[in-house]
Amino acid sequence: MSNLAEEGQLALLIGSRGKRFIVLLRASDALHTHEGIISHDHIIGQPWGRIVRTQLGKPFLVLEPSTHDLILHVRRQSQIVYPKEAGYILLKMNVYPGVRVIEAGSGSGGLTIALARAVAPLGRVYSYEHRPDMQRLAIRNITQLGLQEWVDFKLKDIAEGFEETAVDAIFLDVRTPWHYLTQVGKALKSGGFFGSLMPTTNQVSQLIASLEAHHFFNVEVEEILLRAYKPVAERLRPADLMVGHTGYLVFARWIPEAPDRDESKDHNKV
Ligand SMILES: C[S@@+](CC[C@H](N)C(=O)[O-])C[C@H]1O[C@@H](n2cnc3c(N)ncnc32)[C@H](O)[C@@H]1O
Repeated sequence: MSNLAEEGQLALLIGSRGKRFIVLLRASDALHTHEGIISHDHIIGQPWGRIVRTQLGKPFLVLEPSTHDLILHVRRQSQIVYPKEAGYILLKMNVYPGVRVIEAGSGSGGLTIALARAVAPLGRVYSYEHRPDMQRLAIRNITQLGLQEWVDFKLKDIAEGFEETAVDAIFLDVRTPWHYLTQVGKALKSGGFFGSLMPTTNQVSQLIASLEAHHFFNVEVEEILLRAYKPVAERLRPADLMVGHTGYLVFARWIPEAPDRDESKDHNKV
């Protein structure tokens, strides 16, 4: 990556009161804020980490945004997959450049951001959503970040099945993922990665029972707890508030040729 901000890149602008903006840099474009207007031309071609000023003289720090920044920035109408889970999902499901991955539902596009940035430039995200209003929001969020090149949005109920076959990974962020495991099996390659996120333990119980009945192996159930600290050197202590609960993660591998459940007994052994 260049140490200069270039046209077509995303920039994070932080005002003196902590207000944050993310913009896709375009020549002659401008960001309008409560503290005045910043011309993109004053950012493009300049080193990252500089202070730019609005026409009213108000300062903004210009940084490259992280994927974490992008996910927290999205306009939401649904619960999103938070960065603490999104990063782990990429590692657990082996999502890297060139991979083909399905997700459902698109929701606000929170997870789509992490998936698209991970599979680019040669991979593909197939993002399914059955609500037109949610799909419009996800497309808008992804397009604003310039990530649409790597995402195919599909307006479809996944009960009708997926259009792709032999994909590397499928992640379901829907209320009843156990209803769609037959469809998942038809779209995943043998040995492919399955993952899901659910807010309640009874959903997890339903899903793992169904995974066992559908030739999924290496089933894992996990929860990620993250605690931030107040970064004050002489009084280091946890922040007063934390996100107490987001959801439970379930991962498994699709092994259609595996011996029957009765022969193998333990779902973590094939
Ligand atoms: C919790 S949101 C997904 C959030 C998304 N992962 C994110 O990070 O922004 C769940 C979405 O799944 C969609 N959905 C639920 N059941 C579905 C189905 N059977 N087919 C397609 N989409 C579905 C809902 O409309 C909703 O938008």
